[in-house]
Order: sequence, then structure tokens, then C-alpha cells
Amino acid sequence: MQHWEHSSYEPSLPITEKSNPITRDIDRANPDEIVQMLKNCDAEIFDRTAYLDSMYQKLNSCSMVQTMVEISKKVEIILKDPENSLIVLSGCGTSGRVAFLLATSLNRWLVALHQKQIYSYIIAGGDKALLTSQEAPEDNPSLGALMLDKASTGKKHVLFIGISCGLSAPFVAGQLHFCLNNLDVFTPVLVGFNPVHMARSEPMQDFPFNFKEIAEKMSEMQKHQKAFVLNPAVGPEVITGSSRMKGGTATKLMLETVLLAGHEAVYSNEAVTADNVLASVRMNEKVYETTYSQIDKLAALLQKAGVSLQEKGHVYYLGWQTLGIIGIIDASECIPTYGAAFEDIRGFISKGFSEMNNKEGDLSCVGPRFAIAHTDFVNAILPSLTDKDMVIFLFSVEDDLNEVSELAKRVGQNSSNLHALIHDLEGHCVPKSVIGMFMTALNITWPSSLNKHSSILMKQHWELSTKWCLNAISTGAHILKGKVYRNYMIDLRVTNSKLFRRAIHILQRFTNSTQTQCETALLRSIYDVEELTDEISSADVTQHTLMANQKDRVVPTALVMLQSGCTLAEAKFHLDAHPVIRNAVAAHLRFS
Ligand code: F6P
Repeated sequence: MQHWEHSSYEPSLPITEKSNPITRDIDRANPDEIVQMLKNCDAEIFDRTAYLDSMYQKLNSCSMVQTMVEISKKVEIILKDPENSLIVLSGCGTSGRVAFLLATSLNRWLVALHQKQIYSYIIAGGDKALLTSQEAPEDNPSLGALMLDKASTGKKHVLFIGISCGLSAPFVAGQLHFCLNNLDVFTPVLVGFNPVHMARSEPMQDFPFNFKEIAEKMSEMQKHQKAFVLNPAVGPEVITGSSRMKGGTATKLMLETVLLAGHEAVYSNEAVTADNVLASVRMNEKVYETTYSQIDKLAALLQKAGVSLQEKGHVYYLGWQTLGIIGIIDASECIPTYGAAFEDIRGFISKGFSEMNNKEGDLSCVGPRFAIAHTDFVNAILPSLTDKDMVIFLFSVEDDLNEVSELAKRVGQNSSNLHALIHDLEGHCVPKSVIGMFMTALNITWPSSLNKHSSILMKQHWELSTKWCLNAISTGAHILKGKVYRNYMIDLRVTNSKLFRRAIHILQRFTNSTQTQCETALLRSIYDVEELTDEISSADVTQHTLMANQKDRVVPTALVMLQSGCTLAEAKFHLDAHPVIRNAVAAHLRFS
């Protein structure tokens, strides 16, 4: 049994908020060790050992496989009545981005089959949230319900898939509640990675139920096949609470399995069975094994990215097709996760918004953060690119290799720090002349046995593999830059209620102070005051997070105050002297 599965391990926390024992010392690890830890952590997604004393259901457990089969059968029914039906995927942050990726990819595939597009996605904060962090709407259950109501107008049958890795987002809870009140039209599915009893029980803004109550109701309705909860335990995240990693990965592969099984039933006459579902999960496990078999090259890329960030250079992902989207998503997540500047790691997709298929269309005029085409990179970044900046091309043998070579040639004139993640097929590989243009080429040759000759499956596997690689590179680079303490991202932005609670927990974890002391220190730091006023003490969490959104280093400042008993001004002075969070915190903590 994994250490975190014991009931005594961090008992007050749900799995998604626990710290993973595997990565406890990741901040002191070298690049090879970091990749090995990531590999071991990701292996937990596919854990198939059934421990008698474990209270957790895993992805391969019979009950989860059965739930996937039942949801796939609902997908099959929806696909047979495309005029009146819709499948809506929704979530916040990474969960919403995965919803977008799945909905747009599957719609594209339906179009290729000359079928009606039946997928839609909702992301809290709208399409801007696909590229930038918009955390506050996550706290709004009514907004979630409203957006779902609008997206499904006129439909008779809606399969709603609400993703909240932590079983925690009020935005998704509002949507599920709306579905539960309209079961004649909606079949709600909740996707997450905690057991129902660990769902969030904190009251929500202007809403009569908490997430746990909604999740319990969903479980109850599952007995009548009116609702479903798909919530295997995949273990705590590499960086505590960072659900962009395993949570996002497991969401993607699980939902692809479920949705494609439904498609195969309709278009290939292949009945939905537990064996087929398990075979699909197994294929994804093969993708995991194949990707992590490149541990040396992955570690080399991670190290180079770390050096770039340490030297105040940048990391740029230049991707083609959906691999470009994976790059954009990975880059955008570094801002809220590591407090990175938006220029630190950026992603670009060859044709920009015309390839995104997002609902709100071209957002490039909104601001520089939304300049995502390769031409934007060439015009705005290339002229000042230097060897300090790392550029990683993301493409497959199926992309326009002339275009790839042309761009590589241009980039190579300004920087030799040019690398590539390449997906080849057995018997169909990128020529050596192209590979030779890159300092490091991590190329994976995929066997045809893995894609069952289906182009969508192949692309999904390439996306998954690319996600694992980029998550490793960006996480590793920030660890090497000193942004992580143990396996906690201490300098998190406290921009919604979940992050407010997480911040308090981190303070308790590292200072042994009481919850009240931690909350007081956090509020002093957020409001920049030595003494809390009555007005601050009586304000609600939403107000605190609105204020915190405009401030830097609120958690490290509170931590130093609590640890040393110093004033706010002294804590800020100390942090100014130690820009590397790990060093600043380590200088103040005596930790066994
Ligand atoms: O609020 C921040 C965040 O943790 C994101 O990083 C994450 O992607 C999002 O919330 C959604 O979390 P969940 O899937 O648990 O609702």
C-alpha cells in the first residue's frame, strides 16, 4: 500500500491536497532524480494492486471500470440522436482547459466523419481562462449553472461532465446541482480524484449546499443510473495540490477512454465492454512507459530549461496542431502555479487562433498574452532571442516538415538553444536532416499497435506524451530555479477560497501555529497591515482573495512572520534579501 493510503497519513486532507511522500525532497533533487520522481508519481495513476485494507478505488478497480462502461453507454445514446443532444464538458483552470481540448478534438473528428458536432465546453472565466489564470469565477456556483443553462438551450438530452479534480470547485457544484434539478434533460457526471466523503464541505457563496452534499446526491442517483461519479484515487500530486499534473492527465485519458468507447459503439459497431475500457487504459499506460523510457533526454531538457530560467532567459514552446495547444496550456499554468512572469514560459501554435476552435474566436487583440501564433513569435520574440532562451519545437511526422525546417532555420540564426519533442510512427519517421537541426531531439517512435490505426487515438497519445514531457520540463525548471520548498509551492497566489484554505494549511504545516494564528498572519500579509482592523476581520474570503490577487509573496511573508515572530516590515525586508523562496524559507525554518 502506498504511504499516503494509510488512514493516519495527513488525515485531515483529501488525497488531492495531501503531499506526495515520493516527492518530499524534490527541491533538492538533480534533474535525473526529478524525472524519476515524476515517473514514480505518475505510475500511481495506473496502480492496479488491490490492497484489502485500502479504502480507495483506483482507475483499474472494477467499480471504476464499470462506471466508465455506463457513462460510455450514455455517450452512445447521445451520439445516436445528435439533433437533440449535447455533451458538455466543464471545469475551472486546467480542468476547463482539458474540457476544451477534448470537446474541440472530438468535434473535429465528428466533422471528419461527416457527423454533427455534439460537444461543447465551458471554462470558468470564459475563453480568456484557456490562456491566462482566471481563478475567481471558480468560486461562483450560480455563474456555473447559468453558463450551462445557456450552453444547453433547446437540447432534449444533455450529458454533462463536470470536472473538479479536488471535488471542490463551487462553479462545477452549481452546474451539477442545476443538472440534478433537471434530470429529465441532464445526465450529470462528476469527474475528480477524491472519494466522495473527502469532497469539500466548506459552505459556498450564496448557495444552499456544499460540494460534498452535491457529490453524495450524485452517488445516490448513480444507483438509478441518473448520475455518475467517476473518481478514482490517483495519489497526491508531485507538487502539493497542483492538479494540472496528474489530475489533468488522468482526466484526459479517462474521458478519452469513455468518450471514444461510445464513439466506437456507434461508428464501428464495437460494443462497450469492461474489457475494451481496460484495454484503452492499458494503452495509455503504454504511452506513459514509452514516454518515460526517455528519462535521460527528458532530464537534459529539464536541466536546460532550469538554466534558462535561472539566467533570466525564457522557455518557448513552438507547437503544431494540438501539440501547440498542449504547450500553450502548460506555459499558462506556470503563472498561477509558480508565480512565474508571463514571459518566462510561453507557448505558440502554428496558425494561432484559427487552429484553436475556441468559442470566443480570435482573442489576439485582447493583449500580448493572447498573441499565440508562430508569426507572433517571429515578429515579437525572435529579434531579441539569445542563447539564454530555450526553444522547444513540438511536432510529429505528420506535420508540415518544410514549415518546421524553415522555422528551425530562422530560430537557429539567433539561438543554438533549440530542441525538439518529435513523434514518429513505425516505418514513418522524421528525416535525419530535420532532426539534425536541434541540439536535443527527444523523438519517440510509436508502434501502430498502440493506435489501432485510428488517427484520433494516435493524436491523443501524442498529446498525452507531450503533456508528460512539458509538465516535467516546466515543473523541473521551476524547482531548479528555487520556487519550491520540499514539495510545496509556497509562493502561491491566494486568488480563490480553495487557495486561501491551502495557504493556511501550508502555514500550519511549516510553523506549527494554530489555524487562527495562521489566518491572522495571512490577512496581515494580504492587507499589508501590522494589526488587523475590525473591517478586515469581518470581511469574507472573497474580499480577502480579491485583495490578495494584487499582492506578491503573501504566503512567504506570513510564514516568516509566524516563524520568527517578526513584524510585517521585517518579514518583507528578509524576503527582499532572499529572492529565492526556498532559501528565504529555509533560512527561517528548522525542519526535520
Ligand atoms: O484555483 C486554482 C486551481 O487549483 C487550478 O490550478 C486548477 O486547475 C483549478 O483550480 C481546478 O481545480 P479542480 O479541478 O480541483 O476544481
